[in-house]
Amino acid sequence: MSVHYFSPGPASLPESVRNQIKEELLDTFGIGVSVMEISHRSKQYEQLNEETQAIARKVFQVPATHSILFSPGGAQQHFSVVPKHLSAPGEEIAYTDTGVWAHLACEEVFALPRKVHLVFDGRTNDYVSLGNPQDWDIPQNSKFIHLTVNNTVYGTEYPTIPTFGNIPLVLDMTSSLAARTDIPWESTALVYASAQKNFGIAGVSVIIMNNDLLEKSREITKHNHLGKAHSYHAIYDAKSALNTPPVFSIFAMNRMLNWIDHSGGTPAMEQWSLEKAKMIYSEIDAGLYIGRTHKNCRSRHNFVFKLPTEEQDNHFIAEAAKHNLLEIKGYRCVGGIRVSMYNGVCMESASVFAEFMRDYRKKYG
Ligand SMILES: Cc1ncc(COP(=O)(O)O)c(C=O)c1O
Repeated sequence: MSVHYFSPGPASLPESVRNQIKEELLDTFGIGVSVMEISHRSKQYEQLNEETQAIARKVFQVPATHSILFSPGGAQQHFSVVPKHLSAPGEEIAYTDTGVWAHLACEEVFALPRKVHLVFDGRTNDYVSLGNPQDWDIPQNSKFIHLTVNNTVYGTEYPTIPTFGNIPLVLDMTSSLAARTDIPWESTALVYASAQKNFGIAGVSVIIMNNDLLEKSREITKHNHLGKAHSYHAIYDAKSALNTPPVFSIFAMNRMLNWIDHSGGTPAMEQWSLEKAKMIYSEIDAGLYIGRTHKNCRSRHNFVFKLPTEEQDNHFIAEAAKHNLLEIKGYRCVGGIRVSMYNGVCMESASVFAEFMRDYRKKYG
C-alpha cells in the first residue's frame, strides 16, 4: 500500500533507499553475511565506517577544523555529556529554553555544578517564538551557548543560526543537520544530532566537534569524571568503534547520506525543504487553519497548526488517514496537528498533503 508518512521521527526514508537496504540486507558485502551480523572489526565494516565518515563530512559540509564521530544511541544522551566536554565545575554556560527538547537539555545542565544562565525562556510565550537573539544577555565568559536549531515539537526554527561574538555555539541539530547550509563553523564548538530524521534511522548520533576543543576536552573530561565510553576523544581515537557500534544504523545512514549526495547534497535538501514548507504554510495562511508559531521563525520541517475546535482537529486527522496521509497528530502536550517533512519525504507527498488541506478547507471551512 502506498502511504504518505509524516512522522516527526523516526521519519520516512526515500523509497529508493528502502529498496536498496532491502536488496543488500542479507548479503551486504558479497561474502554471504548480512550487515546485521558482520563483525565491527572486519575489514568490510572498517571500510563501511570509513566511507560513512567521508560521506558524512561531505554532506554535512564539515571543514577540516572539525572532527566527526558516531556515537551509539540518541541525541538525549548528549544533553549531560556535552557540557562535561566543554566546561568545568563552577564555570558559566548559557542555555536557551525553546521547546520540549531544549527544556530537557536545560534540566540536565541545571543539575550540574555550573553557573547556568537561561538567556531565553520560551515558556513565557508558550514557545510560539524564539525572541530576538541579539537582545539576549549572555555573560562574556560563558564557555558556550546551547541552541536547539529546530524545535521539533512546537515547530519553530531560527531562520539564520545566530552567533554571539567569541562565545562558542553548541547546536542540537537533531532535526536540521543535512538540511541547512548555514552552519557558522568558525563560531561552532560542537554539533550533535541523532540520525532518524533527516539522514538515517534511529540508533546512532553524529557529533561534530572543533579539533582544538576536542583536544582540550581530554583534560576536562578527566576532571568531570566522565567515563571513557562517553568521552568524545576516546570514541574519536577508536574511530567510532569504541563499543560495538550500531552497525545496521550506520549502514542505513551511509545509504541515506549517499542518496542525499546524489540528489544534490545539503543545498538541494535545504531548497526542497523550503519549497515543501512554503506549500504547507500557504495553505495554513489561506484560512480555516490556525498556525501555532510566529511567522518569522517557522520550522521548515514541522508544521504545527490546529483547526477552530478539537473535534475538527480529530475529524481532519481521520479524513487525512482515509487518504493515506498518516502520523499527523500533534505532540501530546501541544495537541492539534503536526505534519513533519524531513529529507525523506518527497515533493509529491508534500503536494498531495497541500491539496488535501485545500480540499478540506473548501468542503468544511
Ligand atoms: C531537536 C531534538 N533534540 C533531541 C531529540 C531527542 O532525540 P533522541 O530521541 O534521539 O534522543 C529530539 C527528538 O525528537 C529532537 O527533535
